[in-house]
Amino acid sequence: MCGIVGYIGDKQAAPFLLDGMSKLEYRGYDSAGIAVLEEDGHICVDKCVGHLDALRKKLEGNMPKGTAGIGHTRWATHGRPSDRNAHPHTNTSGKFVVVHNGIIENYLTLKEELMGKGYTFVSETDTEVVAQLMADLYDGSFESTVKKVLKRIKGSYSLVFMCEYDSDKLICTKKDNPLIIGLGEDENFIASDIPAIISCTRRTYVMSDGEIGTVCRDKVWVEDIDGTPITKKVFEVKWNAEAVEKGGFEHFMLKEIYEQPKSIRDTMTGRMDAEEKKINFPELKWTAEEIAGINKIFIVACGTAYHAGIVGKYYLEQLAHIPVEVDIASEFRYRAPLVDGSSLTIVISQSGETSDTMAALREARRLGSRTLAVTNVVGSSIARDADQVLYTYAGPEIAVASTKAYTTQILAMLMLAIYAGRLRGTMDRDREIVLAEGLLEIPEQVHQMLENVDQIKIFARRYGSSEDVFFIGRSLDYAVALEGALKLKEISYIHAEAYAAGELKHGTLALIVEGVPVIVLATQEDVYDKTVSNMQEVKAREAVVIAIGFEGDASLAKYADHVIYIPSTGKYLAPLLAVLPLQLLSYYAALTRGCDVDKPRNLAKSVTVE
Ligand code: M6R
Repeated sequence: MCGIVGYIGDKQAAPFLLDGMSKLEYRGYDSAGIAVLEEDGHICVDKCVGHLDALRKKLEGNMPKGTAGIGHTRWATHGRPSDRNAHPHTNTSGKFVVVHNGIIENYLTLKEELMGKGYTFVSETDTEVVAQLMADLYDGSFESTVKKVLKRIKGSYSLVFMCEYDSDKLICTKKDNPLIIGLGEDENFIASDIPAIISCTRRTYVMSDGEIGTVCRDKVWVEDIDGTPITKKVFEVKWNAEAVEKGGFEHFMLKEIYEQPKSIRDTMTGRMDAEEKKINFPELKWTAEEIAGINKIFIVACGTAYHAGIVGKYYLEQLAHIPVEVDIASEFRYRAPLVDGSSLTIVISQSGETSDTMAALREARRLGSRTLAVTNVVGSSIARDADQVLYTYAGPEIAVASTKAYTTQILAMLMLAIYAGRLRGTMDRDREIVLAEGLLEIPEQVHQMLENVDQIKIFARRYGSSEDVFFIGRSLDYAVALEGALKLKEISYIHAEAYAAGELKHGTLALIVEGVPVIVLATQEDVYDKTVSNMQEVKAREAVVIAIGFEGDASLAKYADHVIYIPSTGKYLAPLLAVLPLQLLSYYAALTRGCDVDKPRNLAKSVTVE
């Protein structure tokens, strides 16, 4: 996730900007830059790909001098990591400068419009469009031009603007991305996150969507787009520096679980037309003929990403009617798969650097398959090697246990299946509308679920000392059960197994004895009765049954010891919600057992060796 800092005051800006950016390093970034309004009235921009040390080196002996500036650590979304794509971005004359977190959804339309007027672009980013638009719409007033720009852009953003024509202020605003203003004495600050400014001030304004902050040396005011003043309350930060990095959460894993409403929204941004209820992938260059020519899809991945692939198989087979095989990458690469020119190989990888997945991708290409990467890291090795890329935009995932990466991967797979289904003529319009309506509700439903976790904490305390836990389900519930079991074992070290519920009686039922917790997922209507029968089988062996089902499903309580209710949604959307209690259960069970949640033993975030 990108990081933003801004300073205006009576001290030199550059040292503060670099220090503030270093406090945002934990979020992950691939390039960095600063813009300082120098004493001669010109804005000087320095930026480069790589870590902050590279930028510091570049500035050695040549630090820009000035008391107002903005800085940015970039985590690429549009355009690979490079010097040119790094922020800040300027218009051609360099008079307007901007840093941005988020995604400008309509940047391509705006870019075409501006190019038609003769504007030229030097980067591949969506952000440069904002700087050029500032120049195009400039009406003599910095404030009013920012408002004009905001009326033209769509998407999610936090933005900070600086302008040579009006050098005594910075202007900032946000939509669906965090932004705070720090209040000091004869100096004020802007940041995307508290760690960047906590060494300077604990007094902040937490900005809300649509608010525009004008930040000067000695005053700050906030108004809406129509100029109506907004009275902000000062929020005093009470956390210590370590807690601040985690946004006040005890662990990165929990923070990332709670980021899911936003990451899910970001995955949909630019691909979901909320008015039309239509899904498109502007980045995928497939014609209907090409999609019709795909005879088979191979999905290849490791760990959690492999589990997302299994969910993806259900989606692609049922919605786009394409046969799908799902492989663990380390198996695929050595099993001489029957891949050819009529196949599409989809590799899924959060990091885009997993060695087995990378090798599997190369093997698929060698065999003549077309390839598509579903990944979170822009410019990663896997993204670079695949023919086409679909980014999940989950933002950096720091905890070893994957959470928001998983939900955004399955969302991406569902949207891909809907899109491919439309192009192949297997998805009728009414069905797409129903699915799109359901998807648009998911971020809020996730948010609501995350507000009510007390029941899960109680279960985690009660069953956290168990030696074995089983997860069962059928169809998509089985796919989610696999992920639930992996989460529990990797961070709480409890032995956990997931089974297709119908498979239990072919051996594993022998392990189901009195008191063994069995988590039963029961969200799939087509196989609901069968799942309930399996639930009764384990109950008859005196297992403790914790069922996960939809609100309003009264019958589960008859057979289960406990029921965790999730908001009612369609069967294809259920995995996006059903996995949340499993993530939380693992997290709280690990806490109960005193495990190191973010860094489980023997595991690494990115497995770059075979
Ligand atoms: O970066 P990738 O998605 O390729 O990583 C794949 C697995 O190593 C990863 O999902 C792993 O299983 C996670 N630790 C699970 O939480």
